[in-house]
Amino acid sequence: MRKPLPLLSSHPGGRSALTCRYRCGDACFHDVPNPTDNPELGAVIASALSRRTVLRAGAVVGAVGATGAFGVSSAAAGPGGSDVPGGAPGLDGRPARGLRFTPVAPNTADRVTVPQGYDQNVVIRWGEPILRGAPEFDQNRQTARAQAMQFGYNNDFLALLDLPGEPHRQVLVANHEYTDENLMFAGYDPARPTREQVEIAWAAHGLSVVVVDEDRRVGRLTPVRRHPLNRRITATTPFEVTGPAAGSPLLRTSADPTGTRVLGTLNNCAGGTTPWGTVLSAEENFNQYFANAGAVTDPQAKARLARYGMSGAASTRKWEQFDQRFDVTREPNESHRFGYIVELDPYDPESTPRKRTALGRFKHEAAQPRLTADGRPVIYMGDDERFDYLYKFVSDRRVRRGDSRAAREHNMTLLDHGTLYVARFTGDSPAAEIDGTGTLPDDGEFDGWGEWIPLASGDRSLVPGMTADEVYVFTRLAADRVGATKMDRPEDVEPSPRTGRVYVALTNNTDRGKAGKAGADEANPRNANKHGHVLELTERGDDPAATRFTWTLLLVCGDPEDPATYFAGFPKDQVSPISCPDNVTFDPHGNLWISTDGNALGSHDGLFGVAVQGRERGRVRQFLTVPVGAETCGPVVQDRRVLVAVQHPGEVDGASVENPASAWPDGPGGLVRPAVVAVWRRDGRDIGV
Ligand code: FEO
Ligand code: CA
Ligand code: CA
Repeated sequence: MRKPLPLLSSHPGGRSALTCRYRCGDACFHDVPNPTDNPELGAVIASALSRRTVLRAGAVVGAVGATGAFGVSSAAAGPGGSDVPGGAPGLDGRPARGLRFTPVAPNTADRVTVPQGYDQNVVIRWGEPILRGAPEFDQNRQTARAQAMQFGYNNDFLALLDLPGEPHRQVLVANHEYTDENLMFAGYDPARPTREQVEIAWAAHGLSVVVVDEDRRVGRLTPVRRHPLNRRITATTPFEVTGPAAGSPLLRTSADPTGTRVLGTLNNCAGGTTPWGTVLSAEENFNQYFANAGAVTDPQAKARLARYGMSGAASTRKWEQFDQRFDVTREPNESHRFGYIVELDPYDPESTPRKRTALGRFKHEAAQPRLTADGRPVIYMGDDERFDYLYKFVSDRRVRRGDSRAAREHNMTLLDHGTLYVARFTGDSPAAEIDGTGTLPDDGEFDGWGEWIPLASGDRSLVPGMTADEVYVFTRLAADRVGATKMDRPEDVEPSPRTGRVYVALTNNTDRGKAGKAGADEANPRNANKHGHVLELTERGDDPAATRFTWTLLLVCGDPEDPATYFAGFPKDQVSPISCPDNVTFDPHGNLWISTDGNALGSHDGLFGVAVQGRERGRVRQFLTVPVGAETCGPVVQDRRVLVAVQHPGEVDGASVENPASAWPDGPGGLVRPAVVAVWRRDGRDIGV
């Protein structure tokens, strides 16, 4: 029998209300948590063009001349292409190497649709046993104990790592962002969850580490059950808090008077991999798990909660009824212990994962390092909320090579010592030419320069009126004070391993330009931005530690027939429509791959490749689409396989276990289950060549 669902209203974009509630805590229905009046992009000044020209010249020289540390190629030009766009785009019609496949047409099929000549397998589904002693998944007999040994729910970020000493195997690491109990439990009553359901949800959050076997001929992957590296991290796994705010009174609770030990990680969205062999995972919409912020009366505490989107009474999942740490009136500092980048050593199943306070606390979307020429990691990070900011962290310490214990221990301190910055963008076109419609300004590009504003360095605050601990724990408030630029939901941020240029996915912001809200600026040039854009940032002198950069919009997304779209100047009749860019990665050829979340063009979400160099720059080509209700996550693109996480399939308003909206992945009658999919060429050759 169908259970009545709680009353949910529809999202203004392409997402279902169920996804809004369970994934983001209805972020889009609440008022924007950034009420500050930051400076908008300045009007152009007379010296602007010359300044920009100087910066750009420096950047290009740097890109060509730099030697990436640790063998990272610094080749600036793509195959057959020049480094800068221009010339005669698309003349020969041949897509860039790596993107030579027949694009998948936009569609609403309830499956993963891949290009002609490609094949796929489901690598692992929610609930599959991965640890010794784990039972087979049984939806009618699920327990928290079983779930803690099985693959978690709603896979998002994916990493595939080498497994030295075991050829034809890789280590798969997956984030499990959130649970949707309506689609997990038959007869679920959101008003009265049971303890077992709540504890299953705790165990279904977090991360999984699973070794996978590679097929020798094609890209198929299959999990190795009970491999000694297999591991589950959940909402109750002990974490160590490290970095400058560790032990701060702001982080102490009755269960942890030291402020250094937290149980669990929540809402792990995207992430990154480090050159020293660890995985970074981003705690995003943690606010939704905490109840009763509306009952807090202290004005400062209330303002801090509000800036992180916390208000109201009961939480959606009612966890506060089962563990009082989720009630902010009873444990006011517990929510301060979520919203971090966490670091996990997947090669040491006994290791304690760390929460890195030096990288700040916000709705972290992802974290991807690039090394400076002298080997210090720089981590780029987005805060995924409408009108929030882009950040980076620059470590003081150099990566130590090798796999000695001393090297590993040293490298596990890299993200505890350094400087945290937030970005301010300035456009180079007159403000009057940025009219909010997406019409290109007279100089033909949405572009300009910018600066990284330091917020704190080690134990030193660089924000007047805030202590260093406050900067690290209330990072959004610190960034407000220094005039950071309000962006259209900065999601995944990834530096190109070839050129060092940094690509920022800005998913959408339908509030841009609304009454009382910031209007269009050159870096966020469309009001009511439904489809998002992709920004390309070039650090001055190609130095990731630089405090100055130039930028340009690579893509202004949407239907190519819509004049308010831009594909780096590539002929728009030759590109795939793309909407709501979210996760980004690079293939071995240097092309950018973009997965989408919330396609507002009527098609299902998907995965797209686009060349960023040479004559093909801007030519977006769709590689796959995902089933009903799903978002495409975690893309990994290797020579012979593409790996995606199909997150929240079937999450459509009104759906439940009894009334599924999708039959994926196991066909009619099967439970809808989030899962990881590998895609490869049937002829066994490399992807897209
Ligand atoms: Fe979990 Fe911002 O996507
Ligand atoms: Ca411009
Ligand atoms: Ca995301």
